[in-house]
Amino acid sequence: MKIIIIHGPNLNMLGKREPEVYGNTSISDLNKIIGDEARKLKLDVNYFQSNSEGEIVTEIQNQMSKSDGMIINPAAYTHTSVAIRDAILSANIPTVEVHISNIYKREEFRHKSYISGVSLGVISGFGTYGYILGLYALMNHINSK
Ligand code: DQA
Repeated sequence: MKIIIIHGPNLNMLGKREPEVYGNTSISDLNKIIGDEARKLKLDVNYFQSNSEGEIVTEIQNQMSKSDGMIINPAAYTHTSVAIRDAILSANIPTVEVHISNIYKREEFRHKSYISGVSLGVISGFGTYGYILGLYALMNHINSK
């Protein structure tokens, strides 16, 4: 089972960026944590990070018929991007939306997600553990089809 993990803008700054909100784990440590769990679950995981909306759209398009599932933290594009929403729809890959922080506890502009409506579900507020929950959610969904 092939899973793509997509990290949106500013997530390359994890660990350094607002640690009181996003914690101390760097993106490379996060990818390692995800990879260790994926190995136990016998999942083949790939990673992509970009600060650019167009690059994220292109990567999602490229995953069509390559990946069985996708975990995406679209970061700030969650709240603005019809283009990423449309890319998920056209790639037609089961998608879990993950946020490190609980977006519903934060500013009102973060309460709106363009991505939730095209996702299997949303995991928000459990820190980097949300990505592990996402792996289980995707695996369960794909296996039950
Ligand atoms: C985030 C929440 C977004 O509102 C924010 O713009 C991010 C990260 C999260 O993981 O909690 O960059 O997606």
